[in-house]
Amino acid sequence: MFDVNKIRAEFPVLQQQVYGHPLAYLDNAATTQKPQCVIDALCHYYERENANIHRGVHYLSEKATAKYEDARQKVRAFVNARSEREIVFVRGATEAINLVAASWGRVNVRAGDEILVTELEHHSNIVPWQLLCEQTGAKLVVAPINERGEVVLGEFERLLCSRTRLAAISHLSNALGTINPVKRMIDLAHQAGAKVLLDGAQAAAHLGVDMQALDVDFYAMSAHKMYGPTGIGVLYAKENILESMPPYQGGGDMISMVTFEKTRYNVLPYRFEAGTPNIAGVIGFGHAIDWLTSVGIESIAAHEHALLDAATQQANGFPGLRLIGTAASKSGILSFTLEGVHPHDLGTILDREGVAIRAGHHCAMPVMEHFGVPATARASFAAYNTLEEVDALFAGLEKARNIFV
Ligand SMILES: Cc1ncc(COP(=O)(O)O)c(C=O)c1O
Repeated sequence: MFDVNKIRAEFPVLQQQVYGHPLAYLDNAATTQKPQCVIDALCHYYERENANIHRGVHYLSEKATAKYEDARQKVRAFVNARSEREIVFVRGATEAINLVAASWGRVNVRAGDEILVTELEHHSNIVPWQLLCEQTGAKLVVAPINERGEVVLGEFERLLCSRTRLAAISHLSNALGTINPVKRMIDLAHQAGAKVLLDGAQAAAHLGVDMQALDVDFYAMSAHKMYGPTGIGVLYAKENILESMPPYQGGGDMISMVTFEKTRYNVLPYRFEAGTPNIAGVIGFGHAIDWLTSVGIESIAAHEHALLDAATQQANGFPGLRLIGTAASKSGILSFTLEGVHPHDLGTILDREGVAIRAGHHCAMPVMEHFGVPATARASFAAYNTLEEVDALFAGLEKARNIFV
């Protein structure tokens, strides 16, 4: 049984007042809050288990190593990867994408090749490919979106060709909430002989993700958007592809033998985890996955959808409000502008009412350009948000309208 009050009680940060109002945290696409079990796991690690992993023979090191590797198994199960060798811990979705561009891109992309992205992408899924194109002479090709903020599938299909080495696609748009038909896009790209990277930074905590069912080649995630700590994320990659990739960074733990003449690299996934990793972050992430699994991703998705429906209904009746992003398939993100009020002013006024939203380009400037706006206001929902908070958002907007219009 999904009980939002019970869930809220697990998040200490939500128990506070902001400017005399109960905090309504609606900036979850930027980062989610952390449940007590994740906070406790971080404290417990530093209080009782802190040691460097993999190389130690003492009690604490073995314990920390076991916890770290246990978290890898949890991630593997959560995304239904075939093997833990396919789960590489990185700093976040940004580093996961940069790893693929730097390592896989270095040996697989040449002058004249193409990387296909969509107009929906976060800068993290644009700039690494631009850098790769600059280094190799490859070309960045962009599949357009329509007026609802959906990728035009026919155009995506038309732009795939024998030169396409990789399609890099967001699973769920952070700026608009659009859920892309990724299975169809993966199948189309594979038919054209291209590999596919999905940017799952927004999707992983809101939609069920299944690596084997998707048959995706690369998948990028950030723990901090999944109720876990900052500074940790995952690159999922198919084992045979990871095996073929050169190391991303050199250093400790990614080697099996080093001499000045020749270095032999470690087995997967350690070959891609050079240096001391964010051990506490990984362990905390494991607890966040336990938490997500215990609540149930389907229940969370249904709850967030109900919040989105209620918010969309209120938005449609709100004078001067323009929804940016009205895709048929959407997750709990409401991006909008209000006539006569700059999104940053909206953000400030709502903040004084205790309502935290985001205002800006959401690291998706091409999306803003498509809709002819410099910025939007964005409310994004998570498991702990309530219908009362949706009402607080619209009460704040009413206040802003009275001030400015
Ligand atoms: C769609 C999308 N991709 C990538 C990222 C980058 O994630 P991180 O900053 O955690 O690396 C974000 C973060 O907002 C995002 O929303």
